[in-house]
Amino acid sequence: MYNLLKGKKGIIFGALDQNSIAWKVAERAHEEGAQFVLTNAPIAMRMGEIKELAKNTGSEIIPADATNMDDITNLVEKSMEILGGKIDFVLHSIGMSVNVRKGMHYTDSNYDFSAKGWDVSALSFHKVMNVLYNKKAMNEWGSIVALTYMAAQRVFPDYNDMADNKAYLESIARSFGYFFGRDHKVRVNTISQSPTPTTAGSGVKGFDGFLNYAEQMSPLGNASALECADYTISLFSDLTKKVTLQNLFHDGGFSNMGISDLVMENFSKE
Ligand SMILES: NC(=O)c1ccc[n+]([C@@H]2O[C@H](COP(=O)([O-])OP(=O)(O)OC[C@H]3O[C@@H](n4cnc5c(N)ncnc54)[C@H](O)[C@@H]3O)[C@@H](O)[C@H]2O)c1
Repeated sequence: MYNLLKGKKGIIFGALDQNSIAWKVAERAHEEGAQFVLTNAPIAMRMGEIKELAKNTGSEIIPADATNMDDITNLVEKSMEILGGKIDFVLHSIGMSVNVRKGMHYTDSNYDFSAKGWDVSALSFHKVMNVLYNKKAMNEWGSIVALTYMAAQRVFPDYNDMADNKAYLESIARSFGYFFGRDHKVRVNTISQSPTPTTAGSGVKGFDGFLNYAEQMSPLGNASALECADYTISLFSDLTKKVTLQNLFHDGGFSNMGISDLVMENFSKE
């Protein structure tokens, strides 16, 4: 490994199980010399396997519902105590749509469900940055990353209201990123990741079709969770200090494709 995060301190949201993108980021951050606090919603603590990850990476766990300002405040204060100083990197790896979970069609959304999903998947990013910014909890040249998906720009019908949540999330990265950059020299970006077989990903209807289509369209194939973790580490490192306000596609080239030979073959008559 490269010691890219040696001496850096962080907070990682969203490691539920070994498939989670946040799980891989935590493992890679540990390998690169970082110290961090793991956090997830209290309910996920009971269902998930986060304790095992904490043991393997020498981390402490602080439960926090990312929609609850008191929880986030407690998380940030305790993290600084545990880590002995300000924070260098934060990963927001959180997503959930109640409409998707309950099988509601996009054209027939339940708006209480929409509001809840938006709060968890998008507004929580604003809330986390609000606490970090107002408590001056980030070190200069720190880095904040959230994970997103290309349904924010293009139509993927079964992604449902998560498409709207991701568009909002990406906008928050730019809007808050301006103030964080100007005032605290902190960068804020989103990584737009390939479809990845995780609990959240597999919840999308027709996920296998989605995954295979993207694989065949992308010249480099889909990016795995581990590859996403590697890319995230580069954004936490000092090698990307002037990258901010960006939505960065990490998708094997999918986002710039029109058609590939492999997909074309499926539609050719001969
Ligand atoms: N899997 C994919 O195909 C894919 C593709 C692009 C982007 N993403 C994004 O990557 C991120 C991570 O998802 P994943 O695929 O690793 O799935 P995952 O299910 O492992 O992670 C989602 C996490 O969100 C957490 N969460 C839900 N509600 C919360 C709350 N109120 N407070 C705090 N945490 C809460 C869950 O406990 C879970 O740990 C999400 O933002 C997701 O939209 C996933």
